[in-house]
Amino acid sequence: MIVDIIAGARPNFMKIAPIIHAIRARTDQGGVLRFRLVHTGQHYDARMSGDFFVQLGIPEPDVNLEVGSGSQAEQTAAIMVRYEELLLNAPPALCLVVGDVTSTMACAIAAKKLCIPVAHVEAGIRSGDMTMPEEINRMVTDSITDWFFTTSEVANANLRIAGVGEDRIFFVGNTMIDTLLANMDQLEKPDFFDALDLAPRRYFVTTLHRPANVDRGDGFSKMLAAIADGARGLPVLFPVHPRTAKTLREIGDVPANVHLVEPQPYLQFNWLVKNCLAVITDSGGITEEATVMGVPCMTLRDSTERPETVDIGTNVLIGTDPQALAPVLDALFEGKWKAGGIPPLWDGQTALRIVDALEQLLAPQ
Ligand code: UD1
Repeated sequence: MIVDIIAGARPNFMKIAPIIHAIRARTDQGGVLRFRLVHTGQHYDARMSGDFFVQLGIPEPDVNLEVGSGSQAEQTAAIMVRYEELLLNAPPALCLVVGDVTSTMACAIAAKKLCIPVAHVEAGIRSGDMTMPEEINRMVTDSITDWFFTTSEVANANLRIAGVGEDRIFFVGNTMIDTLLANMDQLEKPDFFDALDLAPRRYFVTTLHRPANVDRGDGFSKMLAAIADGARGLPVLFPVHPRTAKTLREIGDVPANVHLVEPQPYLQFNWLVKNCLAVITDSGGITEEATVMGVPCMTLRDSTERPETVDIGTNVLIGTDPQALAPVLDALFEGKWKAGGIPPLWDGQTALRIVDALEQLLAPQ
């Protein structure tokens, strides 16, 4: 009973790792599920892909579609054409997709059109922001998904509103947090940390890669200046995504306390988050990890598809106006950050619940 597990871009890898480990463990106990790991090649650099496979113990992909970079439509089309060919030659019992990247949507469409059922991990979340390619990917994927594995009650409610029956919604928790909890004791201080004379709780971590924040040089410069000023002289560590690097090359200089570093491997990045004073980001996944680590997090977006990180966790939604950052940083430096809690079922056992459900669905006893 083969399940295709689809991974294409960096935020997918920490979500598939625990599912793969759980299926393997179940196989050792005589379980019937097997997986075929399909890498679309959307991300291909060692720093965006290979390093994560090594650190998270993900096996070499069984298939690499090697689509590489391109526009949204080019990537979507290339993934669909190549995955369809694979499906026609060797159809699995199920196509399992995670998250909201282009690979997620493209593979779900290709599979569903060949009448192969689709399961979506991290289903049902919505930002309501249709300018984000990820929101379109979520909506399209969920409109053709058979089985929905969800991270939150809000996601469940979104799916119910969309008319999805209760028997197709599986509230299982968050596989990204499975990976974080499994690796918490293995996090590694990056080599540059001491060389830059950094100290725990005396620096910020920033990541920015959303087109709305980084594709226009003038807006990005203002945002960087606001972060640098708001940090009050403390260093700001900025692992730079390839998309962001392009705009940085146009901007030229960055403020003196902003330290640009390469995209970090998983264990190093989360070590930096665990030990920083606060995170300033436009990522979604990092808001979840910061919540679980109890680290203050400021999100430079107008909306979030992960409202539980704000309602329950340590995250605050600031918007994209650089001026909005100063008062929030004032609160941080005055020690007035909310304590935050951990959302239900973000307990490190999510992948086991997914594998239990898949066994029931695909091979009922
Ligand atoms: C994608 C995801 C986004 C996720 C992000 C994390 C979509 C729609 N977006 O955005 O949700 O948060 O990944 O990284 O799927 N590039 C490299 N090396 C690589 C991969 C990409 O240099 O290994 C370059 C590409 O040439 C391109 C840019 O990075 O110029 C963007 O890559 P792309 O996959 O198109 O989208 P992301 O912005 O990374």
